Amino acid sequence: MCGIIGLIGNNEEDVVDQIILGLEKLEYRGYDSSGIAVLDKDCKIKRLRAVGKLHSLKAKLAVDRISGSIGIGHNRWATHGTPTEKNAHPIISKNVAVVHNGIVENYKELKFDLKKDGCIFDSDTDTEVIASLLQRGINNGASPREAFRKMLQTIEGSYAIAVMFDLLPDTIMIAKQRSPLVIGIGANHCVGSDITSIASFCSEVVYLEDGENAEITKDGVLFFNRNFNQIEPSRHRISIEVIDSGKGKYQHYMQKEIMEQPSALRRTMLYNKIDKSILNDISRILILACGTSYHAGMVAKYWFEKFLKIPTTVEIASEYRYRSPVIEPNTLVIAITQSGETIDTIEAVEYVKIHSNSKVLAISNVKNSAISRIADFVFYTEAGAEIGVASTKAFTAQLAILASIAFMHYDFLIQELQSFPTYCEEVLNLYGAMNDLAHKLCDAKSAIYIGRGSLYPIALEGALKLKEISYIHAEGFAAGEMKHGPIALIDDNVPVICLCPDNELFDKTHSNVQVALARGKNVIVFTDFGKSEILSDEITKIILPKIHVEFVPILYVIPLQMLAYSIALLRNTDVDKPRNLAKSVTVE
Ligand code: M6R
Repeated sequence: MCGIIGLIGNNEEDVVDQIILGLEKLEYRGYDSSGIAVLDKDCKIKRLRAVGKLHSLKAKLAVDRISGSIGIGHNRWATHGTPTEKNAHPIISKNVAVVHNGIVENYKELKFDLKKDGCIFDSDTDTEVIASLLQRGINNGASPREAFRKMLQTIEGSYAIAVMFDLLPDTIMIAKQRSPLVIGIGANHCVGSDITSIASFCSEVVYLEDGENAEITKDGVLFFNRNFNQIEPSRHRISIEVIDSGKGKYQHYMQKEIMEQPSALRRTMLYNKIDKSILNDISRILILACGTSYHAGMVAKYWFEKFLKIPTTVEIASEYRYRSPVIEPNTLVIAITQSGETIDTIEAVEYVKIHSNSKVLAISNVKNSAISRIADFVFYTEAGAEIGVASTKAFTAQLAILASIAFMHYDFLIQELQSFPTYCEEVLNLYGAMNDLAHKLCDAKSAIYIGRGSLYPIALEGALKLKEISYIHAEGFAAGEMKHGPIALIDDNVPVICLCPDNELFDKTHSNVQVALARGKNVIVFTDFGKSEILSDEITKIILPKIHVEFVPILYVIPLQMLAYSIALLRNTDVDKPRNLAKSVTVE
């Protein structure tokens, strides 16, 4: 997490506004604090930092303007050190200003050593050792380049770093190891944590690989490998689609992204025609993912085992490589990640690559993301930029790709899938109903979601959406598991949200609904027309369109997203940037 940006002005123009624009695009990566540093016309480092979201920094800038033609900026998601101004980046040590995304894992030893040398630390961050190492190098007579290279040979961990030296006023030095970094070349030469943050300033980009580093000046960019030999990496032209089109008529990105689901699904299916050969010689499937993407993997397991008859395991990526997993021969590994950057998923895939010959298929929403560069093949969800921290359209688009794989031998299901977005449009008309329901649920302290079969992961996802953006404690359970413990939680104040479509498990789930109703009066059932009339009058019923049973999980998640959104609105939370979270999780 954390977003970094660095930019050099053409013709000596002030870069502060451009850096702020870039930081706006990067705010999804962290919003505990933000900061900017520039070299002013006297080659002095000037810095402004503010706690909280970017608007606090903008407010400070309005009264205490700084300016310069070279600068770096940072949005922080706190790891080491509380979210205070002294821990906000850029971190400065006399001649040096640093922004950093990642974790310096050996910072304790380095800090101890630097303190022995008389270095004084002002912050609690791991990043300050980078600034101190650079400053110590300069004090010992090294050039900025020498100091930078020595520092890179000393630190361990993950980093995307941009550094400015007042002694070298036309250069930003950058380096990457396990944290994303893109260099822009064009009207401005620049660097950012992602392509959208710099897309308006340049025409071409270079994706740095781990271990690579670079020096940016207004005249060009020099690239180096980890041994500091100069290299010429390939450049990519920026396509128009990376430019975020804003919130449009919507109050929040999340709302817009929920509404975009029919078109996102149509595009995803149009651009992803599944080649059946991906399953040649495959006898097992292993899915690696986190959070919402993990829930997509859980749904896929039901489909894969039923239709492909291939045993499928779904693993939480952050746990996977810390045990001794057995990877059987002929396993296809599917890594699902919206951002394509989640470090837990990337590291789990790296583990697989080291310990097996398995081929890796990535499903990602971001072109050229880190996962796409390490996977053997990639399917892109064509959901468009997802800015809201709570994943919505990327999830249903992931499910569309996974369904297309699962149903590859069943033409009638593939055809039905094509018409599925029309049902989503119908469900999106339920905003009024979800808003009414939200009024009933918004004061709950806790909520329970239950479902069976492929609706169990949707219960988990519904609960995740609610807790993430409304801060109401929520849990999802397999409906049949309630009686083994969680049922003790139910009373009149705990709403139980039951996913109970008219499928072969209806009667069983209905029994669980009745059991919940016997213990609490706040039971809400999402179902379809088929059996709704047999549900007790005491139950709040939400009636969804009747569709093919296999597509029910994709459809049922949509009203749960809308419900969470409506509840969050009533609770006045920051829907797109919920507390403590960041969109892209690049630290373990
Ligand atoms: O980018 P990824 O799909 O790898 O992200 C994984 C999770 O961090 C993500 O799905 C997270 O759980 C979402 N905020 C949920 O809405």
